[in-house]
Amino acid sequence: MLIIFPFAAGVLLSLNLSPTVSALFVRDGSEQAVLSESNSNSIALPGGEWEEVDISEGWADPRINGGRLLDFTAPLLGEPLNVILSGLSDPYVLTEEGFREYTKSIGYSNECLGLHIGNIHKADLGDGNGRTPELYLARQAYFPVWGTCWESIAGGHHFRAWRQNGTHADSGAWFIGASKEEHSQKRHKIVENGYNLGRDWFVESAVAGSHQKGRNVWWGAEVEWRTGLLEPGSNGVNHGIAQDGRVAVLTVFRV
Ligand SMILES: *[C@@H]1O[C@H](CO)[C@@H](O)[C@H](O)[C@H]1NC(C)=O
Repeated sequence: MLIIFPFAAGVLLSLNLSPTVSALFVRDGSEQAVLSESNSNSIALPGGEWEEVDISEGWADPRINGGRLLDFTAPLLGEPLNVILSGLSDPYVLTEEGFREYTKSIGYSNECLGLHIGNIHKADLGDGNGRTPELYLARQAYFPVWGTCWESIAGGHHFRAWRQNGTHADSGAWFIGASKEEHSQKRHKIVENGYNLGRDWFVESAVAGSHQKGRNVWWGAEVEWRTGLLEPGSNGVNHGIAQDGRVAVLTVFRV
């Protein structure tokens, strides 16, 4: 329940369209069993002890309690979680709705999610929740008519996001894996240098500032670059595409 529920809330739009997602529900019992199994693996730390983590900066290093800054795309490979939207950000963008609306304002959209959604990635943010499925996936909105349907065909920027809110590191931060994809005939492979490019696109749009039309809110962001969280290079990285190991910590505020 804990596992399926946040997932269902996050990517509701794709439920009828994606074979992967339907499979989760059609084979409800078995899929849930698999997910909770990987969960408990991660929860059972050596010695069974949890480290106290400091969340005063609005996020916690997932590695302290057994997580990592690569997601789990496949058993041995993952994609970098290269943007952290800090829990010190405006409380609205820390909610699911607020995050969705905010990322729309900087140029992503969740429309047409069902097209080429690919497989669901999991991540362990070291917050006690173990490996959880992505809560949210969004794609670059190119222009109004086609919206993200066009991105699904043409390739472009997209990201997956998880929330660090388990009881062992309840920072409320969003951990985001951003990348740039090839067009769909290439089955959504990441482009050359696609992790760095995807991250930089997210960060540049956020720092440039944006306007959320529905609520008439203007957003700005500050960025702090961190090294040492992710190993630079392509070791364990999906598609073998190297990345520079830098993680952007964004704090989003109203202007
Ligand atoms: C964490 O966030 C998810 C997604 O918003 C939510 O479904 C879940 O209930 C939250 N967990 C806690 C412990 O607050």
